[in-house]
Parts: sequence; C-alpha cells; structure tokens
Amino acid sequence: MFTGYSTLTVALALPADGKVIACDIDEEYTAIARSFWQQAGVADKIELHLAPALETLDKLINQGQANTFDFAFIDADKSNYNNYYERALELVRPGGLIAIDNVLWGGKVADRNIQDNRTKNIREFNQKLHQDTRVTISLVPIGDGLTLALKTGIA
Ligand SMILES: C[S@@+](CC[C@H](N)C(=O)[O-])C[C@H]1O[C@@H](n2cnc3c(N)ncnc32)[C@H](O)[C@@H]1O
Repeated sequence: MFTGYSTLTVALALPADGKVIACDIDEEYTAIARSFWQQAGVADKIELHLAPALETLDKLINQGQANTFDFAFIDADKSNYNNYYERALELVRPGGLIAIDNVLWGGKVADRNIQDNRTKNIREFNQKLHQDTRVTISLVPIGDGLTLALKTGIA
C-alpha cells in the first residue's frame, strides 16, 4: 500500500459497506497513508495489516475467507509475486479480478539480454499466467504494465 494511493482509490469507489484489506510492512509509509484515508473520509472502510503480506493472506485463508473477495491488487516485493498471486487466486471469488502491477518491468522482460533475478521472476511469472487456465488474462500496456486476471469458474 505504500503511502496509500491505490488503497484510497479502491476505497473511494466502494459502497459504504465495502471493505479493503491493505498490506504493508513499513510503519512510516503507512502512517502517511492513514492520514490521507482520514482526510478522504474512508478510513473506516480500510483494514490495515502491518505484517509481511504473505502472513496476512495466509491468515485470511485460514480464517475461511477463500472465494470471498471481489478484487485483489498486487504491487509489493516482486520476488513474492507468484506467492501473492496464488493466495489472491484462492481469496477472490469466481469472476473476481486480480490486478498485478509492473509486469513489463520497464521493458526489461522483453530483453533476453537482461537476466537479473527480479526481471527473471517477473518474466517467468508472466509466462505462467499466460498458460494458467484458472484465469483469463489481459496484459494492459499502461504505466509499467498491468495484468488483469479474471478468475474463471462462474457457473
Ligand atoms: C510499489 S509500493 C506499493 C505502492 C502502492 N500500490 C500505492 O498505491 O502507492 C510497494 C510496497 O510494498 C511494500 N512491501 C515490500 N515487501 C513487503 C512484504 N513482504 N509484505 C508487505 N508489503 C511489502 C513496501 O513497503 C512498499 O510500500
């Protein structure tokens, strides 16, 4: 969530009884986020979890919240993208949407000469999603590349 911009955007779009679970590990950034959520009048829609996101996502799954979320947005540490994606796929309902940011990684994913770990992670992740029959995807070439993955399985 960093300073809370995307969380704020989602919270503003939600109805009064909508709820956002926001994950980060950095107390300083999240304090900035909280103050803007207050100013925008949406703080009561946002539940902040200050912990490694994998712990939070696993907790939600263990609490029985699989298949209950409409939307997930992944934009944290790139080395965990696959782990976040697998958890998000469990948590969103069939027909729910997962958005994943930075999938073009400044264009580096398309340059085979670039083989650093972060670029390789995102490249492999993109390839995996392309073949993943659990979702229907669209890689939208805006900003740094945003993949939209719709969880299939609506009856
Ligand atoms: C690119 S920023 C997110 C920007 C955010 N989407 C926004 O709208 O401003 C990435 C954030 O991931 C957080 N982060 C890094 N590793 C994390 C982890 N293991 N668990 C949760 N958050 C993490 C960082 O502290 C940072 O605030």
